[in-house]
Amino acid sequence: MTERSVTWRVLPSPLDVAVEAAGRFVETAERAVHGHGSFAVALSGGSTPALLFELLASQGWRSRVPWRDVHVFWTDERCVPPGHTDSNFGLAERTLLRHVPVPGDQVHRIRGEADPGVAADEYERELRTFASGRSGPVLDLVFLGLGADGHTASLFPDSEAFRLEMTGGSRRWVVPNVVPRLATSRVTMTTAPINAAAEVVFLVTGSSKTEALRRVTQDASPGEPLPARLIRPDGPLIWLVDQAAARHGARTRLGQGARST
Ligand code: 6PG
Repeated sequence: MTERSVTWRVLPSPLDVAVEAAGRFVETAERAVHGHGSFAVALSGGSTPALLFELLASQGWRSRVPWRDVHVFWTDERCVPPGHTDSNFGLAERTLLRHVPVPGDQVHRIRGEADPGVAADEYERELRTFASGRSGPVLDLVFLGLGADGHTASLFPDSEAFRLEMTGGSRRWVVPNVVPRLATSRVTMTTAPINAAAEVVFLVTGSSKTEALRRVTQDASPGEPLPARLIRPDGPLIWLVDQAAARHGARTRLGQGARST
């Protein structure tokens, strides 16, 4: 069984996490474009990645990315129109995409305004079509966040999409998901395309995530695993966390090949 490469970086502040994440973005983009002519990245939602997006759009970083060869995807989307304040696409569009020259047909938005089932079916077709047309992995880089309840993307505990993951009963890449605790619907990638990515990077900041981080990274957590624990890519898994989230030594062991740096 291949030993999984898991890296754990504890950084002083959310800005330091964003700087480290921007470095991964630049490095994996260069390697992917050199290797197979394009860079496919899936952005996470929520608020944490905003600093990363703003950094990538800034003078010091913008010129370091081959934007015309970049394809942007999302790990998940809220079921709202793209201009809604909750839209994951909307956040990336405002803070990054309107400032960099990614060709419009290379921005692969999940249609949050559509029926969740229709949007999920469309997105799965789009992702599979893209994957079939390239020599590289489905995605070269995936950014993920972590909810205080241990969710990632829109794979929430007590949700149908998570139950499907636990039964291994689905070969879907994108599914709709009703989130009872939020009384809302989402569209989310399943673990299949995420775990098939060449590299997966978690961005976790703030003391509200300490307990979830401890449970997700502790091997012997009792009971049902948290959704984020299902993220086990064959490629490198990198945890970029700030000191507030990593407080109390939230990490005990990250499994094989884990190293702190
Ligand atoms: C979403 C995200 C979700 C997010 C976590 C953390 O659509 O909300 O994809 O998985 O990453 O909820 O969110 P924060 O960054 O806001 O803490």
